[in-house]
Amino acid sequence: MSTMIEIKHNLQSFIIQHNFSSIVIIADETVWNYYPNYFDFIKEKKIIIPIIISEKIKNLATCELIWQKMSDAQVDREALCINFGGGIISDIGGFAASIYKRGIKVVNIPTTLLAMIDAAIGGKNGINFNHIKNMIGTFHFPEKVFIDKNFLKTLTHNELLNGFGELIKYALITKRDLWNEIKQIPSLSADEIKQTWIDKAVSFKAEVVKIDPFDKNERQILNVGHTIGHAIESFYLKKGDEISHGNAVAIGTVFEIYLSNYKKLVSTKLAEEISNFIKRFFTIPTFTKTESLEIASYISNDKKTMLQTVFLPLLNDIGKISLKQKVEIAEIVEILQNDLR
Ligand SMILES: NC(=O)c1ccc[n+]([C@@H]2O[C@H](COP(=O)([O-])OP(=O)(O)OC[C@H]3O[C@@H](n4cnc5c(N)ncnc54)[C@H](O)[C@@H]3O)[C@@H](O)[C@H]2O)c1
Repeated sequence: MSTMIEIKHNLQSFIIQHNFSSIVIIADETVWNYYPNYFDFIKEKKIIIPIIISEKIKNLATCELIWQKMSDAQVDREALCINFGGGIISDIGGFAASIYKRGIKVVNIPTTLLAMIDAAIGGKNGINFNHIKNMIGTFHFPEKVFIDKNFLKTLTHNELLNGFGELIKYALITKRDLWNEIKQIPSLSADEIKQTWIDKAVSFKAEVVKIDPFDKNERQILNVGHTIGHAIESFYLKKGDEISHGNAVAIGTVFEIYLSNYKKLVSTKLAEEISNFIKRFFTIPTFTKTESLEIASYISNDKKTMLQTVFLPLLNDIGKISLKQKVEIAEIVEILQNDLR
């Protein structure tokens, strides 16, 4: 495993090579407090923008604050923006950087498991709008992503779980060996998360993004568990009872696996194996008809929807996904009312 020092050294070499006019560090304040000396090696032209994060600050007002600070410091187009934190920071920092002076270069240093394997890689960024997650955003690919698993040591169990929800998704969509390894995990801790699992998830995503950078076709394989998961995430956000992205994806995966089985795409045996594994770590809620309709309404707002029908990727087998499966919104409303606990 690379050490923090080696990774910092790579970052330092990258910065020296490029001779940026200034370095803007958009930092999660909590992470900054844990690692206050991380950027001490940058001696000059360093602008630090600490942000106290929550999903609620992923909005235009926070972007304005970032732009104001950049503008006050006369940050120009030759600057580098370093996003130092989890997915909220890479999403909002990436978005702010992508349109500041029509776009400045970005480097991500993800500090959560979720950001390491997903949010900080792949070039998507964005902010929430009208209670809808990531409604406004751009594609702006980071120049580099420096992944240091050591940051996981200070992450709370809940945040580790958040990333684990997304890691399970990778285990379902990539080669079977990742699933075979992950399903043996005795319990969840930073030490139990193997560097090779992170590497496999990252290289799978990189491969898919390379084929389909702007999410037109193949990239939709990454949306397994996400159509229902995102809607559930928006539902709880609106209620003021926020749940993490990875938790929402894990719940979404259980409902989508059920849907896949209902549509005779995946065997009952595998559907049960996957659901039972997810349920070892995550609690699956039950929804009333009214709640199911509300969750489905978020799917109707989703860009993948056409009228009363949604097209989503459904699992056939580990590593085998049928993209763009047509599902009626009414079917999702039905599925959501099942007690899958
Ligand atoms: N753009 C994408 O492709 C993409 C993909 C998935 C998720 N997302 C977005 O990512 C966001 C969620 O990001 P997240 O789950 O990484 O978490 P986060 O950024 O919300 O951070 C979670 C918590 O962990 C803390 N934290 C972060 N790193 C830490 C560390 N090393 N030690 C101690 N505490 C630490 C933070 O302060 C925060 O309290 C959501 O807004 C979601 O929409 C984006």
